[in-house]
Amino acid sequence: MNLILGVGGGIAAYKAAELARLLQDRGFAVNVVMTASAREFVQPLTFAALTGRKVMTDLFDQSSPEGTLSSSVEHIGVAQENEVLLVAPATAGLIAKFAHGLADDFLSTTYLAFTGQVFIAPAMNTNMWNHPATRANLQILRDRGHVILDPEAGRLACGTIGPGRLAEPRYITDQVALLARPAQDFVGDTVLITAGPTREAIDPVRYISNRSSGKMGYALAEAAQRRGARVVLVSGPVQLTAPAGVALVKVTTAQEMHSAVLQHLAESTIIIKSAAVADYRVASAAAQKLKKTGEPVTLTLEPNADILADVGRRKEHRFVVGFAAETENLLEYGRQKLASKRADMIVANLVNSSVTGFDTDLNDVTLITGTGDIALGQASKRELAGRILDYILRQRAGKS
Ligand code: CTP
Repeated sequence: MNLILGVGGGIAAYKAAELARLLQDRGFAVNVVMTASAREFVQPLTFAALTGRKVMTDLFDQSSPEGTLSSSVEHIGVAQENEVLLVAPATAGLIAKFAHGLADDFLSTTYLAFTGQVFIAPAMNTNMWNHPATRANLQILRDRGHVILDPEAGRLACGTIGPGRLAEPRYITDQVALLARPAQDFVGDTVLITAGPTREAIDPVRYISNRSSGKMGYALAEAAQRRGARVVLVSGPVQLTAPAGVALVKVTTAQEMHSAVLQHLAESTIIIKSAAVADYRVASAAAQKLKKTGEPVTLTLEPNADILADVGRRKEHRFVVGFAAETENLLEYGRQKLASKRADMIVANLVNSSVTGFDTDLNDVTLITGTGDIALGQASKRELAGRILDYILRQRAGKS
């Protein structure tokens, strides 16, 4: 989900940096808007580096530092492209502006042009928090349907003790993740997702497998389900809990995954094959545990069927997405897979990095389609899941 993080001026502005990071971990694409006074506390560059996106500041500021962007109509675009506006820290001044519709800088004009969900996390001196004017302004915002994430009590920067300290970034993130309602743009779709590795038995206690964690597939399942899809998740053995509301089909081997996919193909409108399927199985797995002999052992492997290619052959009107996990020649191999498996999109990623790829929380992917490549860049798997789903809808709309 696309989120605007509005940063007001106050000592708590530095906590917005942690907030930006936590929100991205939870799958939000974070676009930061700073007030002029916020810039007195934190450099826009901090947020630009954390989010990999331009930071927006004052409306008519022509002398914006590197990494910031200002234009007299930019706030309209920003307001339209995002589903959630979170203002943290929200000063008493900002709250007053929002309550009364005063629009004189980037953040307050964005607020007025914004039609999505609004979360306000105030931070201010205790007397300002308790002032009848602030109480009345907050009530106006509550009545408008905004969620107010109350500050905590404690020792404040000004030396007083009482309410006014910005709520913990972790708490704010949890609340936004819990309450933000994503667009229901997958209603009517059944999305079949495969995730994780497969295991091919050598004997009753040993197997051949790979390093896939299933995180990308599970993130896709969660995101599609939240956006209104019916989701069937065919999963190899992973250490993850299936998202609530998703139909989970547990499998172990590639052959089991193949038959589970075929069984659910008819009801599916979108198939996403993020599983790392074993290309080979042991020709004749031993019925009893193999004993060591001190001699070299030879295992004969026979090929597994290519599930994605099989789905590609039978896809009819369905939108089919494959993954390409490569260690070299990413785009070339990805394009070959797009054609050979008759997929509509290949999500290509390099897996020989310690930061992104297998068993990490980050990924760096390029979407390969019949109409060109789209580099999504490095982001959390949850954030990428949302963006992959966005492009699936766009590509499908273009196809029909
Ligand atoms: N795939 C599949 N069935 C297989 C092997 C792969 O459905 N037996 C799917 C994967 O789920 C993924 C895509 O094919 O969506 C590409 O998988 P990958 O392992 O990158 O490629 P392979 O087709 O196995 O080709 P290679 O090993 O030569 O890279």
